[in-house]
Amino acid sequence: LSVTQMTPGGLSLVFEIAHQMRVMVQTQGADTRCQGKLLATVFYEASTRTACSFQAAMMRLGGNFLHVDGEGGNSSAAKKGESLTDTVRCLECYTDVTVLRHYNQGSVGTVIEAATKPVINAGDGVGEHPTQALLDVFTIYDELKLPLSSNATENSKPLTIVLLGDLKHGRTVHSLAKLLAKSHTAGVTLRYCAPAGLELPEEIQEYVAQFDHVTQETMTDLREACQQANILYVTRVQRERFESDEAYQAVKGSYVVDAELMQQVPSDMIVLHPLPRIDEIDPAVDSDPRAAYFREMENGMYVRMALLALVLGKV
Ligand code: CP
Repeated sequence: LSVTQMTPGGLSLVFEIAHQMRVMVQTQGADTRCQGKLLATVFYEASTRTACSFQAAMMRLGGNFLHVDGEGGNSSAAKKGESLTDTVRCLECYTDVTVLRHYNQGSVGTVIEAATKPVINAGDGVGEHPTQALLDVFTIYDELKLPLSSNATENSKPLTIVLLGDLKHGRTVHSLAKLLAKSHTAGVTLRYCAPAGLELPEEIQEYVAQFDHVTQETMTDLREACQQANILYVTRVQRERFESDEAYQAVKGSYVVDAELMQQVPSDMIVLHPLPRIDEIDPAVDSDPRAAYFREMENGMYVRMALLALVLGKV
């Protein structure tokens, strides 16, 4: 449901298994440990990566999946007014684990209270996106060549991470800030860089502030924010969360990562983005070796394979 439920030992375990999954896929493509198991992907908001990586993960483990859309499609009785909880309880009769995305913050938690089988939060409105944060931290450690296995959370390297973009609506940054604060005890500096009005919510900053090893800084100049940074984590401005298109147009394009910026930032600073992107990273940056967002996307499948195997007791 939330990254706040993840223990340091749990994180190390997920990373160790995700690494094993990557080796397995790259050497043999798939295995059969989840043969006979079924996943339900239930998405009331659009998704390319989260839905498809969970589905691919289940199939590469030998299982299969059912996919159900929200009110907009014909694959669910949500269109006839069925409640979210009833829809998930129905699917639980046929499947072994559910991955759920919904547009209301807190909705996945409500479903979990009534559920009888595992439910994994794939994004609840502007709340959290915990599996994205897991794959983000996995990618950070992988790109910076920090240990991924048993002592993954005992890394001695302090990290400076710039969180850029729509930090108000971006559930990926909400989960990532909390997970880094909770798990990277060697020290974390979080630099928040957001257009006016899209700053990180107070409750997230208050959660992070509990951890003495974390420093929080608010900055407006992107070049300055990137100085001595290890990671630039870019997010899109979320048009669908704005009350009017005028309000969106007023802030869109406030920050753009382009080739010129990349010349002015540390030569070893890694660029991540949960994707999809709109205009906040120029495609010209994609060929820069520091642009790791496509590797990040691939890691998502390995991390989700690890999560499914753990949840189904098939490690
Ligand atoms: N990162 C992410 O959640 O992407 P999708 O919306 O495509 O799932």
